[in-house]
Amino acid sequence: MQILCLNGPNLNKLGERNPGLYGTISLIEIESELVNLGKQFGFDVFCFQSNGEGQLIDLIQEKASTSHGIIINAGALTHYGFSLRDALEDSSLPIVEIHLSNIYRREPWRSNSVIAPISVGQICGLGWRGYLYALQFFNYHLNKENQL
Ligand code: DQA
Repeated sequence: MQILCLNGPNLNKLGERNPGLYGTISLIEIESELVNLGKQFGFDVFCFQSNGEGQLIDLIQEKASTSHGIIINAGALTHYGFSLRDALEDSSLPIVEIHLSNIYRREPWRSNSVIAPISVGQICGLGWRGYLYALQFFNYHLNKENQL
């Protein structure tokens, strides 16, 4: 089974970008941890980052029919990316939304996610391991219980 791990704008700068808020680990390192954990669960984890909403949409449209779940940190697109939101919904795949920081403890505009209503759930404020927890959810959801 294939799981998509998608990251939006500015997340390619993880490690350098505001480390007090987002941590010191790079996106490449997070993706490598995910791929390794995915192997243990029998998942093929396909990772993709873009600073462009259109590129993320193109990838979702290309991969949806061969994928089984999506882990996504849409960065600031979380708060206003309606086209991305629609592409995620059109994929009909279970979605777990990730944020490294706790978006509810920051500026008020970050508290709204246009992706949350079409997601199975959201993990935020738990740092980079949130991605691993999401994959663990998919292991239970897709491999074991086939339910929430
Ligand atoms: C973020 C939170 C967003 O509000 C912000 O725009 C990001 C990162 C997070 O992971 O905490 O780029 O998604």
